[in-house]
Amino acid sequence: ISPQDLAGQRVLVTLGPTREPWDGVRFWSNPSSGIMGACMAMAAHLRGADVTVVAGPVDLVFPSGITVIPTQTALEMHAACLDLWPLMDIGCATAAVADFRPEPHGPGKFKKSGATSLHIDFVPNPDILKSLGDSKRADQRLIGFAAETCDPRDEAARKLKAKGLDLIAANDVSRHGSGFRTPTNEMYVLDAAGRAESWPLLPKTEVAWRLWDHLLLD
Ligand code: C5P
Repeated sequence: ISPQDLAGQRVLVTLGPTREPWDGVRFWSNPSSGIMGACMAMAAHLRGADVTVVAGPVDLVFPSGITVIPTQTALEMHAACLDLWPLMDIGCATAAVADFRPEPHGPGKFKKSGATSLHIDFVPNPDILKSLGDSKRADQRLIGFAAETCDPRDEAARKLKAKGLDLIAANDVSRHGSGFRTPTNEMYVLDAAGRAESWPLLPKTEVAWRLWDHLLLD
């Protein structure tokens, strides 16, 4: 039987990509599968937490004990998270949120009509994790992730502070087996107490379990 060391904890997990519409048939997104977030949600559920998942568009199903709120855009995900956050003890942001969204062309399908180039303006999306960090109470804890394409240590330290996190798990997604659409991750983990660890390539299931272990250290 799993340890019930998250019993009574209300946990919010964001996961998946966001999908930002441009015209009636096209959108801007990324290849996030939501697997890392699903592993965080499942591990917390097995350890007794009351888990709510705010999901972008993903092909995932969860046991009935987990509440799932489906969203599409970063704005929808942001609104859902801000509503839920005051009710939560722990937030865990694994979603790969689009940092920008295209200025919508409109509801119909864009007609190319001989155009040889296309310019689309983008506007910034809110940083959901930073919003949660900015409104975090002393009794709440927040976990963030960081996907980098270089040595992740400096960025992890910067984001931990900038977003008001208790724990950050960063990885270099350009390394083989680490990042989008892989079942494994090689993590650098840093907490607000300054404890830093570099983990070997591990299944995301095990990364999730160890991250909860780490958060529960103190
Ligand atoms: O700054 P960066 O995008 O690298 O930060 C990654 C972390 O912030 C992840 O935990 C991600 O879920 C979260 N994030 C967010 N909203 C954004 C951008 C990132 O919640 N708009």
